[in-house]
Amino acid sequence: MANSRKKHNVVNLHPEVPQLTVQEMVKEINRLKDEAFHFNYRIAKCLLRALEFKDIYTYEHSARVAYYSVKTGEELGLGQKDLTKLELASFFHDIGKMGIPDSILLKPARLEEAEFHLMKSHPEKSYQILLEFCEEGGGASADFQEIALAARHHHERYDGRGYPCGLKGEAIPLFARIILIADTFDAMTSNRPYRKGLPYEVAFSELREFSGDQFDKNLVETFISAMGKDKSKGAAEFYLNIHPHPFKKEAA
Ligand SMILES: [Fe+2]
Repeated sequence: MANSRKKHNVVNLHPEVPQLTVQEMVKEINRLKDEAFHFNYRIAKCLLRALEFKDIYTYEHSARVAYYSVKTGEELGLGQKDLTKLELASFFHDIGKMGIPDSILLKPARLEEAEFHLMKSHPEKSYQILLEFCEEGGGASADFQEIALAARHHHERYDGRGYPCGLKGEAIPLFARIILIADTFDAMTSNRPYRKGLPYEVAFSELREFSGDQFDKNLVETFISAMGKDKSKGAAEFYLNIHPHPFKKEAA
């Protein structure tokens, strides 16, 4: 009963707001943070649907990158909340491509220098889009801040010669280092109209060759270990938490 509460454990609010103990207040704050995260999560799903309509190739590629990233995160022993954030960050890493003109994004030939320069602005655009989830402050915003930063830095190289900021080594956020490996792996192994994707083993060798320069060496080994286990399961389809329908794997 409220009357039996010790006075020093009660937080005094506006007279019309019921008095809460500190524990009740903390519980309520956490509930509101969870509610805000899940609300943002639903808005995020809307954005992904927009990407699906804009560019189905980038959408399906991003889904595979999310799957490979989460498998890598599981291999690293990340907790469920981090895995959820990693799934979101990797599914959204290229969302900024919505801001690239179709004439460049869907061009079936090699890009001119100026076009490539514009294309390279997509991580910063992803960041700008995802920052919109972060303006209110608080716990849910901190989670989306991490997601936005991972998208911004997914083209940074371990040796510091990437973009947009030239970050080096472990200054690059962990999620961004994972996404770069998963992204490159999918680019090598997925089928395109003009070529068939590479087998897993060939792609693994390529990743190892550029370990330490382009990629975080330890994460490449974690990734290969995770993919080896995944391949042994042999499933042709996969699921993501954010989407109820199955996606097809393309890697052979
Ligand atoms: Fe990208």
